[in-house]
Amino acid sequence: MEVVKDPAEMQRKAEGWRREGKVIAFVPTMGYFHEGHLSLMREGRRRGDVLVVSIFVNPTQFGPQEDFERYPRDLQRDLRMAEEVGVDVVFAPEAGAMYPPGFQTYVEVKDLQEHLCGLFRPGHFRGVATVVAKLFNIVKPHVALFGKKDYQQLLIIEQMVRDLNMDVQIVGLPTLREPDGLAASSRNAYLSPEERKAALALSRSLKRAEELFSNGERRTERILGEVRSILEADPLLQVEYVELCDPRTLEGLRGEVGKGALLALAARVGTTRLIDNTILGEVDSAEDNAQGQDPQG
Ligand code: PAF
Repeated sequence: MEVVKDPAEMQRKAEGWRREGKVIAFVPTMGYFHEGHLSLMREGRRRGDVLVVSIFVNPTQFGPQEDFERYPRDLQRDLRMAEEVGVDVVFAPEAGAMYPPGFQTYVEVKDLQEHLCGLFRPGHFRGVATVVAKLFNIVKPHVALFGKKDYQQLLIIEQMVRDLNMDVQIVGLPTLREPDGLAASSRNAYLSPEERKAALALSRSLKRAEELFSNGERRTERILGEVRSILEADPLLQVEYVELCDPRTLEGLRGEVGKGALLALAARVGTTRLIDNTILGEVDSAEDNAQGQDPQG
């Protein structure tokens, strides 16, 4: 496995592979790997002749009051894990190489960022779209893999790829969970044992919503109310949002919901912000793109 830091060198390598007719699979990450990252890499390994993983804690997607400085980092540990999964190249640039002095071009996906996390993290998705566009230009992948835990991010990247005619297939894979239900996230490393326990309310509330839905409940107010009451019962937990929305546009759904509606939530556990989501009525399976659901049943 090779580690490449220079964007121009990464581009030369990618160009070489393309000329040889090799399929390039790509997993963009901010490092501090967990099982979710590894599952994306394993799928990338299956889909590509070469597998590139990027590790870059992208400063432009963090707000001024957010956790950029304390975001967990351990490059040596990540490199060992990547090697075990069979990654060919880890692309790990310095911030100065990605955003040299004078940098001034950004990518913004207008409407999809006006919902859910976008309302609480101004500028976040502009930073994500910009860095992902840059990474695609550097790594030149045929296929890129993302987790559905960051559902809004996945939708925004799909939209960017369509709108800007990017020649890359986007694959979304199901959220990886700990045995007790907690969605895998690098930020779980921040949680104290009590917070870790409190954080289980997120997946528990989603499970309860799925249960209500499968028992025939369709009223959004009833489903959202139940989810909120589970989250609010824990004093360590502060709800940021709980929304039922259209899985393609992220517009909020009112009245009644059908199969395929997205239930998404964000909450703070202590100072740690966690997100989770589920698609009502869907048995989560590895599928390409978060499309094809019918939010109104
Ligand atoms: O999901 C992430 O880890 C990041 O948002 C991404 C896609 C690597 C962009 O920095």
